[in-house]
Amino acid sequence: MFSDIRAAVVGSINMDLILTMEKVPQLGENVVGTDYGYANGGKGANQATALATLGAKVRMIGKVADDENGKALLENLKNKKIDISGVDTDGSQTGLAVIILDGEGKNRIVVYEGANKEIDSQNAVKSLIDYKPDLLLVQFETNEDVVINCVNEAVKNNIVTVIDCGPAKAFDLEKMQGAHIISPNESETKALTGIYPDNDDNILKASKILKERSKAQFIVLKLGERGCSLWDGENLKIIPPYKTNVVDTTAAGDCFTAAMALEYLRSGDIVKSCDMGNKAGSIAVSRMGAESSMPTIEEILNI
Ligand code: ATP
Ligand code: RIB
Repeated sequence: MFSDIRAAVVGSINMDLILTMEKVPQLGENVVGTDYGYANGGKGANQATALATLGAKVRMIGKVADDENGKALLENLKNKKIDISGVDTDGSQTGLAVIILDGEGKNRIVVYEGANKEIDSQNAVKSLIDYKPDLLLVQFETNEDVVINCVNEAVKNNIVTVIDCGPAKAFDLEKMQGAHIISPNESETKALTGIYPDNDDNILKASKILKERSKAQFIVLKLGERGCSLWDGENLKIIPPYKTNVVDTTAAGDCFTAAMALEYLRSGDIVKSCDMGNKAGSIAVSRMGAESSMPTIEEILNI
């Protein structure tokens, strides 16, 4: 279904340390963990994996260090048939995320950005343009100039450009105008607009600000267990979620963005694309880990 699509992802590559516990500790409190393990992660690598698992051809553009984690993460991407020629390996230390996961599957994440913050903007743009992709996905877990330059170059070259606004931070959206889709989650929406999208009124207000600031064609807010919203400048739609058993919400957003973007490229139907994102996200939250929870297209179509 998506095998003709060439996608480039410019973004982070992290080793995730996942620690599970019934309740997260309060300030000054010690709690006993129930399990821990290492897993492949990073918002960029997760989205690249999601795209590849859904059948697209993918080039990953980013940076790791020539250390144990960097080597393992690259080997993993290569095994997924992701083109890693755009990943530099001369970073100071490969990115690391510590994910604290409670009994309800809700997480808190601390990221050491390391090499992800050292990506060379010119190298990234060159690798992007050389690949001639149909689609570009970016997130905010790398340096700001890399994101801005890649988005502007992609828009100029008519590459469908989708901006996932994770993690939550202020960002100069005005410096990259005219992307096709911009998609923050709830806390990212608050960080970018000052408005938490907890009801239709606030969803609309925040979406209008995002559209005004970015001049993106579509604003898609990821709303967790409430599904997602879509603002095209004229109509606001709330697109309902799919019921599921939540195990771990980590990377649900990455999975949503990748599936939505591929469907948009295939069909050009943004409502259908948001629904595809909701389906993919509902599968991701029902599984442990980041890239290990990415569904295949058959699994999505079976919902
Ligand atoms: P993360 O940062 O943990 O990767 P996120 O906060 O960016 O995720 P969410 O909004 O939590 O993203 O989830 C992304 C999408 O996954 C939602 O828009 C929705 O489609 C789906 N989803 C998330 N939580 C649930 C849930 N409890 N039930 C059904 N679908 C869900
Ligand atoms: O979006 C989930 C990702 O955020 C994790 O894999 C972790 O690496 C952090 O970057």
